[in-house]
Amino acid sequence: MADHKNRSIIVTGAAGSIGFATAAILAKEGAKLAVVDISDKIEDCAEKLRAYGGEVIAIRANCADEAEVKGYVDQTVAAFGRVDGFFNNAGVEGAFAPLHEYPVEEFDRIVSVNLRGVFLGLRYVLIQMAKQGGGSIVSTASIGSERGLAGGGPYNAAKHGVVGLTKTAAADVGPKGIRVNCVEPGVIQTPLLDEIMVQMFDGDLKAGLDKLGWVSVMNRVGQASEVGHVVSFLLSDEASFVTGVAWPVDGGALCTIKH
Ligand SMILES: NC(=O)c1ccc[n+]([C@@H]2O[C@H](COP(=O)([O-])OP(=O)(O)OC[C@H]3O[C@@H](n4cnc5c(N)ncnc54)[C@H](O)[C@@H]3O)[C@@H](O)[C@H]2O)c1
Repeated sequence: MADHKNRSIIVTGAAGSIGFATAAILAKEGAKLAVVDISDKIEDCAEKLRAYGGEVIAIRANCADEAEVKGYVDQTVAAFGRVDGFFNNAGVEGAFAPLHEYPVEEFDRIVSVNLRGVFLGLRYVLIQMAKQGGGSIVSTASIGSERGLAGGGPYNAAKHGVVGLTKTAAADVGPKGIRVNCVEPGVIQTPLLDEIMVQMFDGDLKAGLDKLGWVSVMNRVGQASEVGHVVSFLLSDEASFVTGVAWPVDGGALCTIKH
């Protein structure tokens, strides 16, 4: 278990599966949390996280809006005095279609959250961390950061961009004692994935889990908490010499060409 006692950590997309599971791990490890989401469920999430005993503030904000991003950083500093860790995780899935048929406005929507939103979060949190003289950031990329996926062009392009931003930011701020990494989740079981699988496999969730789990060399899908534990480690001082890394949490999906 990492030690986050009294560290101030921002988690975006915290009303969603990976964000909430990670926030719960960080809360159990003693962090003071600012949980951010565009969804009004964020207040309920904060209430659940308070059950672990730590301080939690809920902030409703759109991560693609510059003023709101600056706002969630300012509110965190007002509440806790600093930002030690940042899980830059909010993202959207988007429509599936071949690139030559892809709706342009849907491309803009996906890129505005999954790339611009990640950039804005990095930008404003880095200003604060540079002032403090240190901190640690983890953004959420994807196995789609390393591969193409038919129909998923804008999502995959944005997630490739997250890795580029991570490596660049790590180089920019390494001398200031700030570490910047990202995780690349594979197929993680979330309510949204369950919904898609129920549709794809005529209501047979088990068949869907088996089929999508095949992508991993472990023959199963992952759980949100399995991403959260890696994020917690990367945010902690135990990862003190790890920066500029894109860390797959994918049950080995990227390590081979399955056949
Ligand atoms: N679930 C997977 O299999 C998987 C795989 C690879 C990467 N990811 C990435 O993990 C991250 C979390 O996804 P998840 O699976 O938990 O999905 P999710 O839909 O459960 O959670 C995403 C959260 O982000 C919030 N959000 C969306 N747009 C926002 C915005 N503009 N401003 C603020 N909040 C916003 C949503 O309200 C939601 O609560 C995303 O970046 C996603 O791309 C997920």
